Amino acid sequence: MKKTTLLVAFLLATTSMHLIAQDQRLEQRVDSVLHLMTLQEKIGQLVLYTSDWAVTGPTLNEGYMNDIRNGNCGNIFNAHSVDYVRKLQKIAVNDTRLHIPLLFGYDVIHGYKTIFPIPLAEAATWDLFQIQRAAHVAASEAAAAGVNWTYAPMCDITVDPRWGRVMEGAGEDPYLGSQVAAARVHGFQGMNNNLADTSTVLACVKHFAGYGAPLGGRDYNSVDMSERTFRDVYLPPYEAAIKADAMSVMTAFNSLNDVPCTENKWLLTDVLRNELGFKGLVVSDYNAVEELINHGVAANGKQAAELAINAGMDMDMQSTLYQKHLKQLVEEGKVSMATIDEAVRRVLRVKFMLGLFDNPYLYCNNAREKRVIESPANMKAAYEEAQRSLVLLKNKNNVLPLRKGERLAVIGQLATSSNDLLGAWRADGDTIGVPSLFDELRKYNGSKNTIYAEGCQKEGYSKKGFPAAIAAAQKADKIVLVIGEDCNWTGEAASRANIKVPGVQTDLLAKLTALHKPIVVVLMNGRPLDLSREDTLADAILETWYAGSRGGKAITSVLFGEYNPSGKLPITFPRCVGQIPLFYYEKNTGRPIYLPDPKYKSRYIDCPNTPLFPFGFGLSYTTFHFSDITLSNNKLYPNDSIQASVTVTNTGKREGEEVVQLYIHDLVADVVRPVKQLKGFHKISLQPGESKKVTFTLTPDMLAFYRLNMTYGTEPGKFDLFIGDSSDHVNQTSFTLEK
Ligand code: NOJ
Repeated sequence: MKKTTLLVAFLLATTSMHLIAQDQRLEQRVDSVLHLMTLQEKIGQLVLYTSDWAVTGPTLNEGYMNDIRNGNCGNIFNAHSVDYVRKLQKIAVNDTRLHIPLLFGYDVIHGYKTIFPIPLAEAATWDLFQIQRAAHVAASEAAAAGVNWTYAPMCDITVDPRWGRVMEGAGEDPYLGSQVAAARVHGFQGMNNNLADTSTVLACVKHFAGYGAPLGGRDYNSVDMSERTFRDVYLPPYEAAIKADAMSVMTAFNSLNDVPCTENKWLLTDVLRNELGFKGLVVSDYNAVEELINHGVAANGKQAAELAINAGMDMDMQSTLYQKHLKQLVEEGKVSMATIDEAVRRVLRVKFMLGLFDNPYLYCNNAREKRVIESPANMKAAYEEAQRSLVLLKNKNNVLPLRKGERLAVIGQLATSSNDLLGAWRADGDTIGVPSLFDELRKYNGSKNTIYAEGCQKEGYSKKGFPAAIAAAQKADKIVLVIGEDCNWTGEAASRANIKVPGVQTDLLAKLTALHKPIVVVLMNGRPLDLSREDTLADAILETWYAGSRGGKAITSVLFGEYNPSGKLPITFPRCVGQIPLFYYEKNTGRPIYLPDPKYKSRYIDCPNTPLFPFGFGLSYTTFHFSDITLSNNKLYPNDSIQASVTVTNTGKREGEEVVQLYIHDLVADVVRPVKQLKGFHKISLQPGESKKVTFTLTPDMLAFYRLNMTYGTEPGKFDLFIGDSSDHVNQTSFTLEK
C-alpha cells in the first residue's frame, strides 16, 4: 500500500516536473524568436486576413499576398485544401526574413466536409460522446485540409430564438452549455491536448462575451445585463471551454453594458486572463476593431487600434488597423512594447504548440487529405449523431413510427432539399453525395409507395401547388409534410422579428387536414419556432433541425422506427413571439402565476405563461416510469456529498433512451434564485421492461452562486431537488445545505 502511494507520488512529481520543463522549453523557444523580430515583424504576427474563393478556386488578394511576403501578415483565414495552404505557407516560410509559418483559421463549426447536425441540434442529443466525436471528426478533416485553427465552439447562451445565431450554440442553459462547450474543445483539440497531433486543431471560444443576448434578438445589437446574470448564466460555458484548455478566444461584436467587447479591458484582461487564467490568444471578430468607430467609442482608426490592443486584444481580424497604426502608437508611447511583445508571444506560442515551427507543412499532406475527408467512418458518425439529435414533439395516437410499405405522400419543398440539410456555417460541405429526405424515404419505402408533391415553397405566398399536393395526399395512407425555414434564415445576420413557419406552409397543412388522414410534420429549422398552429393541426411533429450530410437517412430511420428518437430540447419553444425571452430558469416574482388572485399576478392576459414545448422535453416511441427520488441523506454538509437516485423503467414495447435530468431550487437566499436549475443529466438506454437506477452526486459547490455582495459561494438552507424527463415533468424531494 505504502509502496503504491510512493509510486503514485513519484509519477505525479515526475509528470509535473516534465510538464514544467516542457513549458519552460516552450517559453524559451518563443522568446528566442521574439528576440529576433523587428517591431514591424511583431505587428505582422498580430494581423489576420481572409482568403477568398473564386469560381476558379481559392484566391488571395494580391495585397495580402504581399503582406505575407513582407512579414506584415502572419495569419490567414478561410484558406483551406492542402495545395492552396501549402502555396501560401511557402510564401511565409521561403520569402520572409524570419520564416515564421502562418496560422490557418476557418469556421469549422459542425463539420468540415462531412457535415454534422447544426450545433443546436447536437446539443439536443444530450450525448457528450457524440458531440465530442463530431468535433473530433471535424478537426481531423480540417487538419487534413491544411487548417489548424477553428473558430469554434460558440459558447453563447441565448434565450432569444429571434437571434439567428441560436443555431450555432447549445441553447439556453448554462450547465448543459458548459458540458457541451468542454466536449467540443476536447473534440477539436484532442483529449491530451497535443495540438501538434495532425487530427486536432486549435479551438477558439467565441464570442466573448454575451453575444447571445442582443436586445430584441437583433444580431450585433447592444447587450445590457447585470453582472450577476452575466456571471451566473452567460460566463459558465466560456469558462468551461477555457478550463478544457481551449487556447484561443474570439471577442464578440456587441457592446456589453455600454463597452464594446473588442476594447473591453474588464472582460479581456480582468475576467479572461486574471480571473479565468486564460493563457492563449485573443482574436477580434471580423473587422470589429474598425467597428469601434461605429460604436462611437473611437474617433478614428488609430484610436480604435489603441483601445483594442491595450484592452488585451492580441490579433486584429481583417480591419487592417493594427497594421496601419500600431507602429506609430508604440513610437508615441500610447502602446507599450511590453504589450506588443506579450501579444506576439501568445501568437508564437500557439504556432509552436501546433508544431508549425518544427514542420510548417505538418497539415499539408495530400494522401491524408484524400484518406480522411468524407471517409465512411466519418459519415457514419454524422449519421449516428443526426439520429440522436431529432426531437419528437408530438405523436398523437402513435401515428409514428411509419410502417414500411405504407403509401406516403411526401409534401414540401424542404423534403427534396439536400442544401438545407447542411444548415448554415457548413465550412467546405456541399450537396454532392448528400441525399435529400425524399431520396431516403423513397429508397426505404419504395418509389411506388412514396410519392412527392412540392405543395408550396419554403418562402413566398403562392398557393399554386396546393391542388397537386392535395391530389397526392388523397392517394396516400399518411402524409409526411416537410416544412420549416430556409437554412439561411438562421446563422449570422439572420434575426427574425417573427418566429412562425414562413410563407404559406402552415396554410397547406391546414388544407391537408380536411382529408382526415394522419399528418406527420417534419420540421427543418435552426431556431425554436412558434408552432402553436402546427401543434393543433398535425398528428405528429418531429423536430429535425438541419441534420447534416446524412440527415435524410437519419430522419428516415426515426420516422420508420429503425431508431427510437431520444433527443431533448436544449431550448424552450415559446407559444408566440411575445413571450420571448422565455426560459425554464426564470425567477419568481412577488406575484407568481400560481397565486389564486384572478388578476394581479405576473402573467399575460392573452396567452398562458407556459411554453409550448419546455426545455428538456422530447418524446420516445416507448414510455418510461420514474420512481420516487431517494436521497442518501437529506442533509448536505460542507466538503461532503449526497447521492440522489431514481429508478427508471422502460414500460413500453421497444428499446429506448431517456435523458434523466436533475434540477435544484434554492428556496431562500439573499438574492432571488431561479425556480429551477439543471445540475446534472444522464442519458441511459433501456430494453423493454428493463429498469436502471440512476444516481447523481451532489456537492455544495454545485449550489454556489453570486451572492448579494457579489462573492461566489453557497448559503445554507433548504433546497428542492427534482428529477425528471424534462424541466416541467419531474419528481420532487428536498434537502438542506448545512453550515
Ligand atoms: C464573423 C462571425 O461572427 C465569427 O463567428 C466568425 O468566426 C468570423 N466572422 C470569421 O468568419
